[in-house]
Amino acid sequence: MLVAANWKMFKTRAETGAFCDAFEPPAGVDVVVCPPFTSLDVAVASGLAVYAQNVHWAQEGAFTGEVSAPMLLDLGVVGAIVGHSERRQYFGETDETVARRIVAALGAGLRVIACVGESEEEREAGQTELVLRLQVEAIADAAGAHPGLVLAYEPIWAIGTGRTATPELAAEAHAFVKGILDVPVLYGGSVKPDNAAELLGRDAVDGALVGGASLEVDSFEAICRAAIPS
Ligand code: 13P
Repeated sequence: MLVAANWKMFKTRAETGAFCDAFEPPAGVDVVVCPPFTSLDVAVASGLAVYAQNVHWAQEGAFTGEVSAPMLLDLGVVGAIVGHSERRQYFGETDETVARRIVAALGAGLRVIACVGESEEEREAGQTELVLRLQVEAIADAAGAHPGLVLAYEPIWAIGTGRTATPELAAEAHAFVKGILDVPVLYGGSVKPDNAAELLGRDAVDGALVGGASLEVDSFEAICRAAIPS
């Protein structure tokens, strides 16, 4: 089980330090935190496993505003989220750029959480499997079942909305995704302490990618505890 905290564009360096000082990852579950770039070094210094929220495909070059895998490794960062729906939606990330970022990150020795998921309109139009197939095949064609790769199924309609996918729906989507690319699949989208155990209890659910509920130590610890196999 892997539980990842995606802090998105939240937390100053002081807030990151305070969280890491107070947070005690429970034994029996892999936990990573994904702070904004400005706090990565603070989180690394705490001894927690730290992923970035994005990574560029080039090692260096004229790519203003981007950060490369060697730069992250230089900081002590051990992985990166790639292709989050917010990157796809607001920053023009495509299946092609997602694939390039994943290949470069894995090649450099970072672990990767690659995100996929359908929008509400796509689900209502009956296109969920089509959308997931295109997104996952792009990743599978580029990286295959690399040991450093996990996927995160994050239905866009469940992100930050409090509308969690039912465990049945999540399990169905995870099984579909694994049928295309057989790597661990995390669930993301309004994971909270009170729904984590039920979601994480499903066979096909290999962990969680947590946004809002990962910002507070108590709620994130509760979710991590729910991931400990019974
Ligand atoms: P929430 O947990 O806030 O819905 O965010 C999910 C997410 O986008 C994690 O990457």
